[in-house]
Amino acid sequence: MFTGTLPLAANKTEFYQELRAQLASLLKGERDAIANAANTAALIYHSLSDVNWAGFYLLQGRELVLGPFQGKPACVRIPLGKGVCGTAAERRESVVVPDVNAFPGHIACDTASRSELVVPLIANGALIGVLDLDSPLPGRFDEADRAGCEDLAAVYLASVKE
Ligand code: SME
Repeated sequence: MFTGTLPLAANKTEFYQELRAQLASLLKGERDAIANAANTAALIYHSLSDVNWAGFYLLQGRELVLGPFQGKPACVRIPLGKGVCGTAAERRESVVVPDVNAFPGHIACDTASRSELVVPLIANGALIGVLDLDSPLPGRFDEADRAGCEDLAAVYLASVKE
């Protein structure tokens, strides 16, 4: 059942369209990468149901380093290719994990997390980090969430574009 928190949304696609518009409005006129990542994480965390962590890891060399987020304190450094975040970053494609316990190499930051969605952030052809969402519910994220969060990541990337 769809249980997003935007009151007028009839389904997930509509929910993400509304959230995308809210995010664009929230970030409008500001280009600071950290400030906009912080507001993006906060908007996602407080708008999506059943999400216990939402935030950014930003690429530094061959590692993803913890960026702005909402949720419990998290591991700071994730090598490319490791965990769900490092896998999405290395593949440069979104990864939806319905059961984190079945994902080899999953990095458990909050033991409550059961499923995860990671979207890579690509700016001008270069990987700059990932957007990571965790849920305490198994199978929380589907293809509509993947597409919707890719749209939100695109809004963030456009807001900080040089
Ligand atoms: N589970 C992630 C690590 C980051 S936390 O979920 C915030 C992973 O396996 O990469």
